[in-house]
Amino acid sequence: MTQDEMKKEAGWAALKYVKKDSIVGVGTGSTVNHFIDALGSIKDDIKGAVSSSVASTEKLKALGIRIYDCNDIEKLDVYIDGADEINPEKDMIKGGGAALTREKIVAAISEQFICIVDNTKTVEVLGQFPLPVEVIPMAREQVSREIKRLGGDPVYREGVMTDNGNIIIDVHGLHITDPKSLEVTLNNIPGVVTNGLFAHRGADVIIIGTPDGAQVIC
Ligand code: A5P
Repeated sequence: MTQDEMKKEAGWAALKYVKKDSIVGVGTGSTVNHFIDALGSIKDDIKGAVSSSVASTEKLKALGIRIYDCNDIEKLDVYIDGADEINPEKDMIKGGGAALTREKIVAAISEQFICIVDNTKTVEVLGQFPLPVEVIPMAREQVSREIKRLGGDPVYREGVMTDNGNIIIDVHGLHITDPKSLEVTLNNIPGVVTNGLFAHRGADVIIIGTPDGAQVIC
C-alpha cells in the first residue's frame, strides 16, 4: 500500500467522528484532502465547515460544502487535521503546509482534535521533521538568531508566503523532549506569530492509516 493510500484510509475513517447537522473544523494537507472528499459524500448531513486554509476552503467550496467564518463560531465539536509528526502523548509538529497558525486557531475552538496520519508520522520524540515557525517578515533575522541561541538550526523556507502574509522558518536539528515548554519559548520571541508545536492543544484521538486499515488510538 502506498503512503497516499494509507492517508486515504485515515481520512475516510475520520467520517465517523462527524456529527449530523454539525459544523466541522477542517485542517489542511494531503491527508485532509482525502477527508474533505469523504465529507463531500455526506455534505447534505452537515451544516458546513470552518476551514484552516485558503486551499482547504477552495476544495470544500468546490464540493458544495458551506464555509463558516471562524469569528461567527464559538465552539466546534470536532477538528480534523493531519500532522507531520505525532508522539505517544499526542503532541504534534504541524505546519509542513504552512497553515499552522489558522490550524491552531480552529483547533482552539474545538472540543475534540482528531489527528489523521499515515503510519510514517508516528515517532517517539518530536523533532526529526523540521519545526515550522510562522514569522512576521521584518523579524526574520532576529528570530533566526534567537532560534540558534536555543540550539536550533533555522532555515528560511524560500518562496513561501503564508495565508496571513508571513514567512516560514523551519527549525532543523531539534530533539524535543519537552514540547510544551518549547512551544511557549518560541512563541515568546518577538516577531513569531506561532510555531508548529501543538502540545498545549494536542490531539485527542489519532487515526493511523496502515496497510491493514485504519488504527484508532484514543
Ligand atoms: C499543514 O500546514 C500541516 O499542518 C499539515 O497538517 C501537515 O503538514 C500534514 O500534511 P500531510 O497530510 O500533507 O502530510
